[in-house]
Amino acid sequence: MNDTTPDGYDLLVVGSANADLVVGVERRPAPGETVLGSDLAVHPGGKGANQAVAAARLGARTALLARVGDDDHGRLLLETQRTAGVDTSGVLVGGAPTGVALITVDPSGDNSIVVSPGANSRLTPEDVRAAGPLLASARVVSVQLEIPLETVAETARSLPPGARLVLNPSPPAPLPEAVLSACDPLVVNEHEARYILGAGAGDDPRAWAAALMALGPRSVVVTLGAEGALVADSRADSLDHLVSPKVDAVDTTGAGDAFTAALAWRLGRGDDLREAAAFAVRVGAAAVTSRGAQASFPTLEEVDAL
Ligand code: RIB
Repeated sequence: MNDTTPDGYDLLVVGSANADLVVGVERRPAPGETVLGSDLAVHPGGKGANQAVAAARLGARTALLARVGDDDHGRLLLETQRTAGVDTSGVLVGGAPTGVALITVDPSGDNSIVVSPGANSRLTPEDVRAAGPLLASARVVSVQLEIPLETVAETARSLPPGARLVLNPSPPAPLPEAVLSACDPLVVNEHEARYILGAGAGDDPRAWAAALMALGPRSVVVTLGAEGALVADSRADSLDHLVSPKVDAVDTTGAGDAFTAALAWRLGRGDDLREAAAFAVRVGAAAVTSRGAQASFPTLEEVDAL
C-alpha cells in the first residue's frame, strides 16, 4: 500500500466500489423467464474501484475516493485495492452496506449488470470537499455515475488548475451543462451515446461523436467494443478511429473500466488524446481475454505482448 505520494497522483478515481456477484448463464433471461446458471463467484468490482486497479496494474500512481460498508465486501475491496498498490486513504467506510452488482455473463462474454449502490450512494459532495489534498495532487480525475450526480458535479467544480476530468457516464443519467463542459474527454459506449443524444441519435458513431462534442465537452471518446474507439478532440479539430487488436473475448466485464483507466493514465503522463486512446484500446482488448473484472486487467508487459 502506498498512502503518501509526494509527487502527486497520475490518476485520482472518484467512484464506486462493488462486490460483483457473478453467475455464468447459457443465455441471459428474457423478462419473466428463469434460467439456471453456474456456481456463484464473488469478485471485487465497481466502476471506480475497477479503474483504480486497472491503472495501478499498468504502473500508474493511483488513488481512490470511494465509500464501502463496514462489512466483508468492503474489506475485500479495500484489500484488493491495497494489493494492487492503490492509495486507499480516500476510501471511506460505513454509512450503508457495500454496493453489490448482480452480473450474468453468457458464453459470448457479454454481460448484464444490476447495481445496488449501497454505500456508493452515500459518497457526498462534502466527502469530495474533505478530500481536497487528494484532489489537489491529481493530474487526472476520473468519475463515473455509480455515485450521486451531485458528488460528480462537486468533483468537476473542485478540479485543481491544469487537471483533466475524464467522465464515463455509466450508468447514463441526464448531465448538467457544467459537468459536460468540464469533460476532457467524455467517454461513452454505444448505450451511453444513444441515451445522452436521445431519439434523434441515429446509427452513425461518427455523428454521435460530433453531436456529443456540440454539448460542450472539450473532447469525446466513443468506444466501439471490438471495433476500437472514435476520438474527437477540439484542440486538433479531429475525429480519429483507433482500431482494436483482434482477440477472443471470454468476458467483457470491466473492459470499459480498463479502457478508461488506461486512457486517463496516459493523458496524465502527457500523451495527446489520440495516443492515449490508441494505448487504451489495447488495454481494453487484453481485458476481455480472461474472466472477471479486476482479475482480467493486464500489466504493461501483457499489453505489449498483444
Ligand atoms: O463495469 C463493470 C462494473 O460495473 C462491475 O464491476 C460492476 O460492479 C458494475 O459496477
